[in-house]
Amino acid sequence: MKLKSLLAVAATGAIIIGMSACSSTASTTSGSTAAAATGLIGVAMPTKSSQRWIADGDNIKKQLEAAGFTVDLEYAQDDIPTQVTQIENMITKGAKALIIASIDGTTLTNTLQTAADNKIPVIAYDRLIRDSNNVDYYATFDNYKVGVEQGTSLLTGLGVLGADGKDTGNKGPFNVELFAGSPDDNNATFFFNGAMDTLKPYIASGVVKVASGQTDFKSVATLRWDGATAQARMENILTSTYSNGTTKVNGILSPYDGISRGLISAVTSAGYKVGAGFPIITGQDAELDSVKAINSGEQYSTIYKDTRELAKVAVSMAQALLTGSTPETNDTKTYDNGKKVIPAYLLQPVAVTKADVQKVLIDGGYYTSAQVSG
Ligand code: GAL
Repeated sequence: MKLKSLLAVAATGAIIIGMSACSSTASTTSGSTAAAATGLIGVAMPTKSSQRWIADGDNIKKQLEAAGFTVDLEYAQDDIPTQVTQIENMITKGAKALIIASIDGTTLTNTLQTAADNKIPVIAYDRLIRDSNNVDYYATFDNYKVGVEQGTSLLTGLGVLGADGKDTGNKGPFNVELFAGSPDDNNATFFFNGAMDTLKPYIASGVVKVASGQTDFKSVATLRWDGATAQARMENILTSTYSNGTTKVNGILSPYDGISRGLISAVTSAGYKVGAGFPIITGQDAELDSVKAINSGEQYSTIYKDTRELAKVAVSMAQALLTGSTPETNDTKTYDNGKKVIPAYLLQPVAVTKADVQKVLIDGGYYTSAQVSG
């Protein structure tokens, strides 16, 4: 794999640098560690309220430590001032690089100026950091494709598309409601645009109807990706649009598993039952509780984004930056943060339904079968 070879190159570069500097560090004995790549790395994660960020933080920390770094890993409970303070503290402690998954991508401009003044490179992790020149690289997934996969999977679940991805000719009409992520997260618009580009032709032809009429990003966005906020909005829609006894909601576009769980609660409270017209609900992140919900039929699909791989990309970027080489990127066009285009490495998301849980998530070592069924 390309990244592996990059890691090897980075490690080799580090050893050469280490040797030419007559380094007396341990690398000369094992030859496998990056001698020049030591020191503190600051890792700022948004919240522990979501299982995925815990996995991301754990994976980054483990991999950085294995590469010889020390790590300051912090979570900010989705509170912006807390995240700012945490990053400032990392800079004060002498961090050599920062890996940041921001809460609000527009609030770190001053903090990152301080990082730049201290020559500390910054890697945006999964979420783009906006309005700053001082973001060096971006490790993420193909976020537009995540949205396309969500829209496609909603149509597949409804029976509008077949397993082969082709139109089945099923004309519905299907009542669908739309949810998007946090408006301060750059990813949310990418997901929504990808999904809407996929759904729009079916909305235009009347196969899919958004019965509430709420279709623009502003009306469907969910601040901080909060499940309870989404649940409350869905409850309102169920009352305003679906309480006449005949109109049923057939599908819900959900951008994230935490939101999907709120939606499942809302429709369950309104009397919908699995196996008897329960709506098709999408998701993202393959969080354990949501994989269980997929197995039980409450959630139709999720988008699996392997946090081990994302951590690997971010760690290899940090390692490359600190050993004088150039991080590998595969996208230098898409992610304009308002100041400049940030060179990015995009991983590929994978749509997962009940039929894929074993093959993708269990055989792939992401979860054990005991976790998924427990
Ligand atoms: C996004 C991320 C998604 C999901 C969401 C809520 O930035 O790309 O995978 O985790 O945040 O946490």
